[in-house]
Amino acid sequence: AAEKAGYRTRIKRLLREQDAVMVAHYYTDPEIQALAEETGGCVADSLEMARFGSQHPASTLLVAGVRFMGETAKILSPEKRILMPTLYAECSLDLGCPADAFSAFCDQHPDRTVVVYANTSAAVKARADWVVTSSIAVDLIEHLDSLGEKILWAPDRHLGRYVARQTGADILCWQGACIVHDEFKTQALQNMKALFPGAAVLVHPESPQAVVDLADAVGSTSQLIQAAKRLPHAQMIVATDRGIFYKMQQAVPDKELLEAPTAGEGATCRSCAHCPWMAMNGLAAIVNGLEQGGIEHEIQVAPGLRTAALRPLERMLTFAA
Ligand code: 13P
Ligand code: SF4
Repeated sequence: AAEKAGYRTRIKRLLREQDAVMVAHYYTDPEIQALAEETGGCVADSLEMARFGSQHPASTLLVAGVRFMGETAKILSPEKRILMPTLYAECSLDLGCPADAFSAFCDQHPDRTVVVYANTSAAVKARADWVVTSSIAVDLIEHLDSLGEKILWAPDRHLGRYVARQTGADILCWQGACIVHDEFKTQALQNMKALFPGAAVLVHPESPQAVVDLADAVGSTSQLIQAAKRLPHAQMIVATDRGIFYKMQQAVPDKELLEAPTAGEGATCRSCAHCPWMAMNGLAAIVNGLEQGGIEHEIQVAPGLRTAALRPLERMLTFAA
């Protein structure tokens, strides 16, 4: 505990000295989210992180999340120094969609509008017409569908299928998945629902279809927090990374939040749904990021790539505004 208090004090001092602000995702550990709040930073979903980072006057952003979030911040604010606790915090969606293979896939379908999830590299974004996050995916695809556009979607196949079902749009999907959400199990969730018949089920749309089908509310991290407030149930079974419990419990202090099961056949795996890359954003790593900077911690995006990736990202922010 003393060691952690020491880290927190150092981080606060370093943030002040470096004119830096923390931007943290809901999936980071509670102590990281608490520190971001305490120091005037933000705790948010992917879309809000991008917006907050681009609008905040600080000259340095400390992005506690995964690499694509740091890259997005750099693309939107090239004049800022973007630091991350570690540049090795990846994402299975990003890793599963290499730019050259993706570009070849796009070349095979020139008639389709290319929409990519924020969870991609700068090079994949550079090939896209649009970037989306889960909070605006349905709205954007509805809009494009109303214009008669056919969609090429990447990389999350579950989110792509969910959006296709919600909108009826013609969507060709890259077959990527999030290793955290892909693990939620239908049968085990059904058993849990039977144990807690009064509970509402909240599901992130990166989860498999059969899990989404059991949901009372489906949405991005911020939308699930809103749903927890809106729904009358006293208990909530939550199928997304357990990092979200910190802010969700703040939003509904009197409700009981239960983790949806990730193990099969009736077994309940507690505390399993946690992204290993988000978990790399510890206090010691943040101290290192702020003290060392440099190639180990600072995000760089080549200028040509940045310009190409900026266009679909700006379209996303304009659409979401
Ligand atoms: P959102 O916060 O946009 O819902 O994204 C979820 C996610 O998987 C980020 O890694
Ligand atoms: Fe990627 Fe899933 Fe981790 Fe989010 S939770 S960063 S989508 S692997």
